[in-house]
Amino acid sequence: MKTTPKNNSQGRSYIVRGGNPLNGEISVSGAKNAATKQMVACLLTSDPVTLKNIPQIGDVEATAELLEGLGVKIEKNDQDYTISAASLNTSKVSAAFSRKNRIPILLIGPLLHRFGEARIPMLGGCKIGPRPIDIHMQGLEKMGAEVTCEDGYYTIRAKELKATMIELRFPSVGATENLMLAAVLAKGTTTIANAAIEPEIMDTAKLLQAMGAIINLEANRTWVIEGVEKLNGAVHEVIPDRIEAASFGIAAALTGGSVFIRNARQNDLLSFLNAIRKVGVPFTIQSDGILFGSAESYKPVVIETDVHPGFMTDWQQPFVMLLTQANGVSIVHETIFEDRFGYTESLKQMGAHIQLHSDCLGSKECRYKHQNYMHSCIVSGPTPLKAADICIPDLRAGFSYLLAALMADGESHITGIDHIERGYEKILDKMKSLGADIEVTE
Ligand code: UD1
Repeated sequence: MKTTPKNNSQGRSYIVRGGNPLNGEISVSGAKNAATKQMVACLLTSDPVTLKNIPQIGDVEATAELLEGLGVKIEKNDQDYTISAASLNTSKVSAAFSRKNRIPILLIGPLLHRFGEARIPMLGGCKIGPRPIDIHMQGLEKMGAEVTCEDGYYTIRAKELKATMIELRFPSVGATENLMLAAVLAKGTTTIANAAIEPEIMDTAKLLQAMGAIINLEANRTWVIEGVEKLNGAVHEVIPDRIEAASFGIAAALTGGSVFIRNARQNDLLSFLNAIRKVGVPFTIQSDGILFGSAESYKPVVIETDVHPGFMTDWQQPFVMLLTQANGVSIVHETIFEDRFGYTESLKQMGAHIQLHSDCLGSKECRYKHQNYMHSCIVSGPTPLKAADICIPDLRAGFSYLLAALMADGESHITGIDHIERGYEKILDKMKSLGADIEVTE
């Protein structure tokens, strides 16, 4: 079936001929959601910091450009970046970086420490709901920053950030990171309660500690950070990407193949592995990675996305694809983002049976109860999929479209591939090496 790509129809696209099982081995790249934040953390010192295992993806490129635009020097040696912020020369982030991704907001702490002021354009990132930044700003205000917003810019000023006790109204990943970067050099001890504790944040805490910070994760999602006078250079290796690992694991299961995912870490995938075990996807944990296989048939499940250590919202999209092939009715309740099912429309055109609901389906009520957001879905399977022309709306949806095309009967054309290349390193090469029939048109 041919459907008209909605937008982004210009430019490069993937042509995918479905039906091949994916077999072989891939290595997981460095985690996007750790690498990009850690590049920003390097601005907290004038010494060079070396980050290893940086993935070659669009979001890293955009972050590097953003930092270079502020005068930062970056020496790139394959996956290793040495970042020197001694030459950081402005507190204003160019408007050209507005709406590209959500990294600029994390610059607030480093820029305040260096200049007493940060000017940040309005934010971008995936279109998956309104994505407000009130939690970031309230925390910074509590630390003594003054925030104003005018002409598409936030201006944040603070002669000195002071330590305080902050309780987040929701464990936001970005806000937790933002406040951590502000707190490491603030005067006194900052407590961030009801904070996010995702593995990527833990990894960034490890970088900060290597740079000289005093930072600890205590009971009940509480970060305790004793401000220090100064941070120094360090060498740090970015953790493997648990979203990429899970995505390829599902690709093996859905195409009837078997893929060894080198560097996939059980630690970071506990809730994912529990979920696929219930569905019936076989896997074997090995010392250097995880082997994902496939089964003749899969079972339906009820799943709710949640903050870590719950089932991650970025696993939801490939997981929904998996459920389209399960025998019966599954329920997915998205509790992190209110609008993260828009991508299912194209999957329905390919033959998937997915119904969206505004109720909290599943076992618990979330903050989107009675708010009319289509944040739950019912997936009925198994359904064969037909090839289609589809346009990727956001990064994680992109992988599920690729999965759909890999399973579909016929040739699919996928546009909007910049979205997927923002977050998955060498995705085409990795897919091809596993036997996928996929090519790119310029
Ligand atoms: C990060 C990840 C993203 C992941 C998400 C949740 C990066 C680059 N992106 O996004 O892949 O899906 O965590 O694990 O690391 N919120 C507010 N006010 C705020 C901040 C957030 O209401 O000030 C809300 C958001 O609208 C959303 C929820 O909190 O509904 C979670 O957002 P957050 O954890 O901040 O996600 P990001 O850091 O944007």
